[in-house]
Amino acid sequence: MSIVYDQQHKLLTLTTANTGYQMQIDELGFLRHLHYGSKTGSQNLAYQILEHDYAFSGNPVEFRKERTHSLDIIPQEFTSFGVGDFRVNSVAVVNPDGSRAARFQYVSHEILDGKYTIPGLPAAYDNGNEAQTLVVTLKDDVTGLMVRLYYGVFEKLDVITRYAEFVNAGEETITLDKASSVCLDLPLGNWDLMHFWGKHALERQPERSPIGHCVTTVGSTRGTSSHQHNPFIIICDHDATEDYGDSYGLMLAYSGGFKAELENNQINCVRAVMGIDDTYFSWKLGPGQSFHTPEVILSYADGLTALSHNYHRFIRHNICRGKHHLEKRPVLINNWEATYFQLDEEKMFALAKEAAALGIDQFVLDDGWFGERYDDNAGLGDWFVNYKKLPNGLDSLINKINGLGMKFGIWVEPEMVNEDSELYRSHPDWALSEPGRTPTFGRNQLVLDMSNKEVVDYLYDCLSTLLKEHNIAYIKWDFNRSICNVYSHVLPADRQGEVSHRFVLGLYGLLERLISEFPDVLFEGCSGGGGRFDAGMLYYTPQIWLSDDTDAIERLIIQGGTSYGYPVSSMGAHVSASPNHQTGRRTPMYTRGVVAMSGAFGYELDLTRLLKRDKEEIREQVQQYHQDEILIHRGLYYRLTDVAKGYYTAWQFVSEDKSQSLVNLVVTSPQPTPDPLHIRFKGLDPDTLYRIKEDKQNITGAALMKAGYTFTPMMGDYPAAQLHLSAVSCK
Ligand code: GLA
Repeated sequence: MSIVYDQQHKLLTLTTANTGYQMQIDELGFLRHLHYGSKTGSQNLAYQILEHDYAFSGNPVEFRKERTHSLDIIPQEFTSFGVGDFRVNSVAVVNPDGSRAARFQYVSHEILDGKYTIPGLPAAYDNGNEAQTLVVTLKDDVTGLMVRLYYGVFEKLDVITRYAEFVNAGEETITLDKASSVCLDLPLGNWDLMHFWGKHALERQPERSPIGHCVTTVGSTRGTSSHQHNPFIIICDHDATEDYGDSYGLMLAYSGGFKAELENNQINCVRAVMGIDDTYFSWKLGPGQSFHTPEVILSYADGLTALSHNYHRFIRHNICRGKHHLEKRPVLINNWEATYFQLDEEKMFALAKEAAALGIDQFVLDDGWFGERYDDNAGLGDWFVNYKKLPNGLDSLINKINGLGMKFGIWVEPEMVNEDSELYRSHPDWALSEPGRTPTFGRNQLVLDMSNKEVVDYLYDCLSTLLKEHNIAYIKWDFNRSICNVYSHVLPADRQGEVSHRFVLGLYGLLERLISEFPDVLFEGCSGGGGRFDAGMLYYTPQIWLSDDTDAIERLIIQGGTSYGYPVSSMGAHVSASPNHQTGRRTPMYTRGVVAMSGAFGYELDLTRLLKRDKEEIREQVQQYHQDEILIHRGLYYRLTDVAKGYYTAWQFVSEDKSQSLVNLVVTSPQPTPDPLHIRFKGLDPDTLYRIKEDKQNITGAALMKAGYTFTPMMGDYPAAQLHLSAVSCK
């Protein structure tokens, strides 16, 4: 049993393979948080909590004399509101009488087999006997507002998921102005925050700093999870490294705006709260109605690598779904960086023909095939073929591409509309925009109101027709601006605070309908590259285009940064032209291949203009990727160097049975008298003798991990090396 209730001490203990989580219902019915971290067995951990009179930290009436019980100090599973906890809160409510208070006390709990689901939202799933669910119900007796806290305990995977359901069991409408998914009070310690910031074409740059006494916020007010911040944070011991040290992950499975708040309080206890961004949020909860928050995926591990492994495994097996998520992925050629909007049947077929000859599996027709789409000023919303560009229609091109033995994929950006489009001319009120204000543009486009069922149904009709009428094996689902003018023409004035979240629910509902109806189609997410790279989207699209920056050297940090939380199988990565279109940098074809292979692999350049030797190299890369893909996607991933420091970057894959490994190294700034390229490998079996294919040496795992390996010095522009290790014998 991974969830146990100790009635005598009113303790609830959750246990996974290596972690323990404990909470206690206290004498007033508040749900105290006692522990999350390494396993501590069934020991009652209540003794750790200091009951002390802290001035200016108020006391509930029952303790007004002793003054030792204060919500401002006690670690809690979910906070009350307005009743004396002055730290960052889980909720904010407005009661029917205008007051702003909620005191949540224990009512009951249930322990269930299997994993809960969340209506309308992504939620990790159980593959059979993997999870148990705990539901603890708390209630504010004055208004009848209840909060049900859900915990999904994945014992073997070292993951605990959480979310909160608010139920209005009162008789009048209550407004939620903030509804977080999780509150996690950490043990006393010296904690760092790691988060992943960025911008368009430079996403998920890791940044680590001590958690100060001010409130630190990581979040997005852009209506999407965003390029600028990712809904994944790590809280780790100040001394934690890749290999050891307390490390906690909090990952929100949500693709809209989010907020993570961290506060180191007056007695040096850190609290983390995470959930939907509350900037525009305000939700009216009528009597009998429920509100469901998105899910947070929590994991704890000793060291950052072990934490990453927990998330990689969990996202691949318990978040991503469908036919493709564990399968080998097609190697694709995308025409975007080859031709941009200048596409026609002849050019596309010529590109596909070159690709087929090099062993590439799938052709993807990117932006520009529909409506009056000649540049990014028109056409979005009109999801029917542009016959001026493709006079014989889509099927003519698709048939020719299928005739080459390749699958066909296509780009769409369903949630957007250009003013210059038939859709906008017919339905201007379908775009988000406030009455009387000119909306703000982004890439000259407006955002459709996904909270409007009519809009979602229209998009469903367009996309399902596209998929039914043509032999399409893959969809690239893009989203190319941030959302503002958050106003829906179908909701009343007092419900406009619901639009942002209803938008996300509309998107998820549409994706769910499409992936259920077209289970054979592989969906790849995208938002100007990686602007919506999150576990919410990964529930529908098992891979996401990682970044519009395809420069191999920049990608080392983008891919490395993303790897802290997400598996390489989720990262769309392509070899593009040199000089690179975003940075102008020249890199060897070999290096571009080494970097892009650590992802969902493909090409995005004009193959018809390449030299013969480049094409030969591509043919070899495709063959090699097919051989190595299982090791890369299913193996354990190790960062061997800091992804953002040093003059070279190295990373390694090791198969779960430790019999195979692939070590990758890229020199990012060559030196005249170079320091040795010396690396200690990781994750091997110490007693196994490994054959290194490239230098034909046999070396034990122990030697490679403890003494290390020195690469031959490399000169020139951004050279790279790969080593394939296979077990030849065990001692
Ligand atoms: C976004 C995507 C690109 C490409 C363009 C097309 O920027 O990230 O890969 O599809 O849109 O407009």
